[in-house]
Amino acid sequence: MKINIVGGGPAGLYFALLRKCAFPADDVTVYERNRADDTFGFGIVLSDETLANLRLADVKSYRAIRASFAYWDDLYTHFKGTVVHSTGHGFSGLGRLALLDILRARAEESGVRIRYGTEVSDIESLRSADLLVGSDGINSLVRGQFASAFQPNIDLRRNKFVWLGSTLPLPGFTYAFKENACGIWIAHAYQYGRHGSTIVVETSPETLGQAGLESATEARTAAYLEDLFAQELKGHKLITNRSLWRSFPVVRCRKWSHENIVLLGDAAHTAHFSIGSGTKLALEGAIALHDSLKQCISPAGIAGALKAYEAQRREEVEKTQHAADVSLRWFENVPRYWNMHPTQFNFSLLSRSKQVTYENLRLRDPRLLQDIERWYASTGAGTSGSTAVVPPMFKPLRLRDLEIQNRVVVSAMCQYSATEGVPNDWHLMHLGSRAVGGAGLLITEMTAISADARITPGCAGMYSEEHVAAWSRVVRFVHEHSMARMCLQLGHAGRKGSTQLGWQEIDRPLLEGNWPLVSASSLPYFADSQTPRAATRVDMDSIRDAFVNAARMAERAGFDMIELHMAHGYLLANFLSPYTNRRTDEYGGALENRLRFPLEVFDAVRAVWPEHKPMSVRISAVDWLPGEALHEEDAVEIARSLKAHGCDLIDVSSGQTAPESAPVYGRMYQTPFSEQIRLEADIPTIAVGAITSADQVNTIIASGRADLCALARPHLSDPNFTLRAAADYGVDVCAWPDQYVSAKSQLVSQARRAKTDQQTQQARMRELQHFQERARDE
Ligand SMILES: Cc1cc2nc3c(=O)[nH]c(=O)nc-3n(C[C@H](O)[C@H](O)[C@H](O)COP(=O)(O)OP(=O)(O)OC[C@H]3O[C@@H](n4cnc5c(N)ncnc54)[C@H](O)[C@@H]3O)c2cc1C
Ligand SMILES: Cc1cc2nc3c(=O)[nH]c(=O)nc-3n(C[C@H](O)[C@H](O)[C@H](O)COP(=O)(O)O)c2cc1C
Repeated sequence: MKINIVGGGPAGLYFALLRKCAFPADDVTVYERNRADDTFGFGIVLSDETLANLRLADVKSYRAIRASFAYWDDLYTHFKGTVVHSTGHGFSGLGRLALLDILRARAEESGVRIRYGTEVSDIESLRSADLLVGSDGINSLVRGQFASAFQPNIDLRRNKFVWLGSTLPLPGFTYAFKENACGIWIAHAYQYGRHGSTIVVETSPETLGQAGLESATEARTAAYLEDLFAQELKGHKLITNRSLWRSFPVVRCRKWSHENIVLLGDAAHTAHFSIGSGTKLALEGAIALHDSLKQCISPAGIAGALKAYEAQRREEVEKTQHAADVSLRWFENVPRYWNMHPTQFNFSLLSRSKQVTYENLRLRDPRLLQDIERWYASTGAGTSGSTAVVPPMFKPLRLRDLEIQNRVVVSAMCQYSATEGVPNDWHLMHLGSRAVGGAGLLITEMTAISADARITPGCAGMYSEEHVAAWSRVVRFVHEHSMARMCLQLGHAGRKGSTQLGWQEIDRPLLEGNWPLVSASSLPYFADSQTPRAATRVDMDSIRDAFVNAARMAERAGFDMIELHMAHGYLLANFLSPYTNRRTDEYGGALENRLRFPLEVFDAVRAVWPEHKPMSVRISAVDWLPGEALHEEDAVEIARSLKAHGCDLIDVSSGQTAPESAPVYGRMYQTPFSEQIRLEADIPTIAVGAITSADQVNTIIASGRADLCALARPHLSDPNFTLRAAADYGVDVCAWPDQYVSAKSQLVSQARRAKTDQQTQQARMRELQHFQERARDE
């Protein structure tokens, strides 16, 4: 087979050598514009996991790589005069030039032809080969010439960065955060050899502009940064090498292959340098491409093999790109974290892309985890002064006079089981068992303020004396038999009302017995749903009064807190979102107007709800819709306004505004919105959405991304989520009811045994791994 490869970076060279070693008869040529000893940049980082993959793919180059890298476990964060040290990160760094030398030598030894100093400008002439690999980097010519086939999307990120070197020996991966009169500067630095470190400095375009460095010469940039980072550089100079300020392009392509052409490495996809995965993706992509092509015995099968490569590789790449996106956003938004204590700042940094979590850090660096736990316990953070050292999820939270025992919330969940709005034995069992299960706060299902405010005929209500009596029974049980506090979620379904039960055709109109709907504007939810009328001022008065009436009843029923539902496309959300609010009066248009009625309802309820009891509001932070819809910045503004009106807590959900809302799901997928609102609007928040473990709860709370974590579905499968977590952590902070207390010691000793078994197994696995590694290397 004849293979032409454009670009002799890590991707192109590695694929070339793997192919040639496995198929010596193939004719493999690499075209590289640089000379053999030219290179940009200084060093790259590879994780243990990538090294393990390299060993499996080609042990010879792996050994050479291993022999030339600097290995370190430690990470240092310099922030406001402090240095936080953490360990257990397992990275190796080597010079890019050293890596390219190894790959070149191995490629040439196996018979690959490398044409250095050859700039490719005509792709067509190289396409006559059986396969053309476009591994020509971030500004790929191959990608550009076949743009209509590959459909690239290039997102130029806002921060500016420059890549420099230094002779400074670094003990580990180092982040240095500096503030001067121009703004905040961040250095990402790591050693790649005995005498060399890479230092990437990034900053916002505004800060760079203030410093007058946008189009500075390399010498001026180096001089400025040497001065700024003088303390960290300890007298060492910065070395430049094409060190110009650039924006990082996040490259994504809809397709990576077209007929006999395939894109590889940065040409196909990039991952921000802050997670150090660009070379990893390039090398692992080369392995995957090689593996797919191994199966194809004739040129006729190439297009199919390329498709198989893409299918096999895409998910992994997208996961890495997602992690890189989350990471780069952390650095772009660093002013958000600037007021944090260094301990929390460092944990927020480490856990930014979800790879390092609370429990993961315990394995990497138990000492640092203890520091975090101790620091968190010592913070006031709204509590009644409890400083017991427990995992953050078990630290009580105080809102006005309400003390919530721990940070776990049973999220609001419609049960569709009420009759005429009256909660019954099901609700007593549902909420009662979750209260006994240890959660600190229970939020009831969305409870309608009037019969026509219900979502479905099975929804609960708070608009008659029967409702007060039925809810009182539930609240009394919870208060008598648990430490849990009770929050009533009050709402009006708006255009999503008069629909079928959750387990029938959700959000679709009833088959019979529909009631008229009201919304901000006269727009149906589905095209064939009932069209609501746009609320008149008379409607708004009566809706507001019904909220007030329900709040008064909630007080009589003994609830500890009220949450107003302004999310998920229900009535008050319909007012907030420009997607559903097309009004031209003072309640439509600018956000200030769209907020007017929701705030009027909030104020009216706040006025009758006892001063000492807190109020929460649930919002959809984003609509997951393009264009005229709610986006993150709007959510911050909404939260600020609510705070100014006396709101104590924002329950941060998202979407469900319209059937076409397209959320991007994933672990803890709504938590970034909670973090942004909490830190930018300076108000306590609840994070919710795909939070499934105590580890995640602790990570979210300790890193300052929320004050409470709400779990919905996990509580349906396990009402005892919090009791189990307490047993796992060996903390005695949850009240077990007398009736169940005999199970407590069993659960605690089981948890202890499971932990010991796990540790023994992990130690065995590590031993086995070391043994296998040594055997392979020998
Ligand atoms: C600031 C910064 C820091 C980084 N740090 C890390 C890190 O720590 N760890 C890590 O893993 N990755 C890191 N990366 C990413 C890494 O550099 C790339 O992701 C990786 O090199 C991609 O390999 P590649 O082979 O796909 O592309 P490249 O390494 O860019 O190679 C492409 C090659 O194609 C050649 N070429 C391009 N066009 C033509 C043409 N028309 N004709 C002939 N030749 C051509 C180029 O000269 C180049 O040699 C970093 C990137 C940046 C920007
Ligand atoms: C059965 C069910 C009913 C729900 N009902 C409500 C509700 O009444 N009010 C509300 O705000 N959210 C409601 N939600 C959304 C949840 O409160 C929560 O935001 C969502 O399920 C994401 O959390 P999870 O990933 O932990 O399930 C409901 C979710 C489920 C699964």
